[in-house]
Amino acid sequence: MRKPFVAGNWKMNKTVEQARVLVSEMLPGLQAVKAVERVLCPPFTSLMAIAAMLSGTDIGLGAQNMHWETAGAFTGEIAPAMVKEFCQYVILGHSERRTYFGETDETVNRKVRAALAHGLTPIVCIGETLAENEAGRTAEVVSRQIEQGLKDLTPEQASGLVIAYEPVWAIGTGRAASGEDANRVVGDVIRPTLAKMFGNTVAEGVRVLYGGSVTAANAAEFFTQPQIDGALVGGASLKAAEFVKIVEAAA
Ligand code: G3H
Repeated sequence: MRKPFVAGNWKMNKTVEQARVLVSEMLPGLQAVKAVERVLCPPFTSLMAIAAMLSGTDIGLGAQNMHWETAGAFTGEIAPAMVKEFCQYVILGHSERRTYFGETDETVNRKVRAALAHGLTPIVCIGETLAENEAGRTAEVVSRQIEQGLKDLTPEQASGLVIAYEPVWAIGTGRAASGEDANRVVGDVIRPTLAKMFGNTVAEGVRVLYGGSVTAANAAEFFTQPQIDGALVGGASLKAAEFVKIVEAAA
């Protein structure tokens, strides 16, 4: 039985003060939905303040990225141990990182292995672009991202992962995938690829989320799909009442 999982990826939004206000607005609603694993992923600058607000609750905190090296001359980067000071989770390989900051399956793999080595749960993002989708290459792209991004993991390590299937064309566009199409990619491509690499038990146990224009209005369409275990929410996670409704829909 896979516990539903909903994470809010705030992306590059909110100052510390704004982050505090948003969390105080959503906290009571989020705390009421125990059946769902709930995770907030604010920018790095707000992690310390939000960690303090979430202390004593069962709501998790995640970073949106990190470097794979432990320390050193990497100006502007954040090391795994620094993330671990505040967070239990880290989003890795988001399509915005791949598109704008040159991340590849290889660098995602380094980050995934570093996160696991530091006791963080990676939320690994995969998904095809519009051109790849239209060319009928979704299965090829998504399976390659999994095979290379999760290379050299043990089945035990893989069993603790969360995967977010985010078709790039659905992110921030208001044009979500259909629940059925997303379910088909998870059931026919993502879980079989995981099964080939790590065995059936791992493939059936890993939480796989959908991401891309999830709102309170369409969340149930995804959460009622048998292969989808929750959502990675972007824009709608910046609205307290709407994000709480999405979390409630996952319960
Ligand atoms: O990480 C979240 C996804 O990129 C989805 O973003 O809900 O704004 O489309 P969105």
